Amino acid sequence: MTQEGLPPSLIATLPGGHYADPGIFALEQERIFEAMWFCVARASELAKPGSFRTYQVGRESVLITRSRDSSVKAFLNVCRHRGAKLCTEESGEVKRAFQCPYHAWTYGLDGKLVAAPNLTKMPDIDRTEYGLVNLHVREWLGYVWVCLAENPPSFEEDVIGEVVSRLGDVESIERYDIDNLSVGKRIVYDVKANWKLIIENFMECYHCATIHPELTEVLPEFADGYAAQYYVGHGAEFGEEVQGFTVDGSEGLDRIPGVAEDQDRRYYAITVRPQVFINLVPDHVIFHRMYPVSVDRTIVECDWLYLSHVIESGKDVSRSVELFHRVNQQDFDACERTQPGMSSRVYAKGGVLVPSEHHIGAFHTWVQDRIDAQPVG
Ligand code: FES
Ligand SMILES: [Fe+2]
Repeated sequence: MTQEGLPPSLIATLPGGHYADPGIFALEQERIFEAMWFCVARASELAKPGSFRTYQVGRESVLITRSRDSSVKAFLNVCRHRGAKLCTEESGEVKRAFQCPYHAWTYGLDGKLVAAPNLTKMPDIDRTEYGLVNLHVREWLGYVWVCLAENPPSFEEDVIGEVVSRLGDVESIERYDIDNLSVGKRIVYDVKANWKLIIENFMECYHCATIHPELTEVLPEFADGYAAQYYVGHGAEFGEEVQGFTVDGSEGLDRIPGVAEDQDRRYYAITVRPQVFINLVPDHVIFHRMYPVSVDRTIVECDWLYLSHVIESGKDVSRSVELFHRVNQQDFDACERTQPGMSSRVYAKGGVLVPSEHHIGAFHTWVQDRIDAQPVG
């Protein structure tokens, strides 16, 4: 990135091609999404052994399931015989094994090849070697994270470390007990925009006064344009009249018991590169996962998590959900409005970041360094 000719208040963004060129997206798939920890399912979605879900991670289809010993397993969703896609459904349940719909090679929940037509006549076939290809998998905050790299980066540094560098320590997130919260609402958004536009938008609040009337009512400091993510450890304070993090500032739900006094009546936003956003408020957690589909399309799955007794008792969470649902729509509309400009000649060399957005420059440097780096693992 060249800063040549720019006044000191401004720094350059990435050039437009980084948001519009399928060649750049292919490099990001290989060097970012297939190389880093990638968050897929809520662990509770794999209710019992044999429950499964499939996801696109980078260029690969990934199959996750719960094994007999209750642990979560992740595999490449490709048959070891002649390469058919093993599971074509997005989710489902098998009793004991996954059977390929082509020639019926059959794999146990641990990925091992357990049966195939005439397998007994081929005693030289090692059932583990010709089993499904295992991926690294971790559970944290009640979510399943996978890594396609052979030698994954440190989860502690790359994932937990991102949260720590934002909040100051790991206890600050542990107090929300996210593992044990229940999904009160999930909304899936199909956003016609590059994944980086969504991250950049999430990282800044320069747009808040313009597009987020409800949010700036609840968090008045957002109207100044300085994002919660601008200062380490800072959470944006609720307005004085505001009772809860709801669309009209009315009372929220039961407060999560572990939340500390200095975290109460505050909103914290965390970006975990490359595809997770975590939003913490005293009575719930909003957890976004992005699934980049192509250079100009990203599926965003957003969960609203509450104390389980709040959900079980059937309490009305709609005013609480509605606030961030509107924020999501307002943000994603802005991203979609920006996407076509990425291929305009105006943006060939990129745009500019004002001082309250300068921290996005570090994200751009990070993306560029990943793209330039030789693949590892
Ligand atoms: S491709 Fe799966 S059994 Fe042949
Ligand atoms: Fe926003």
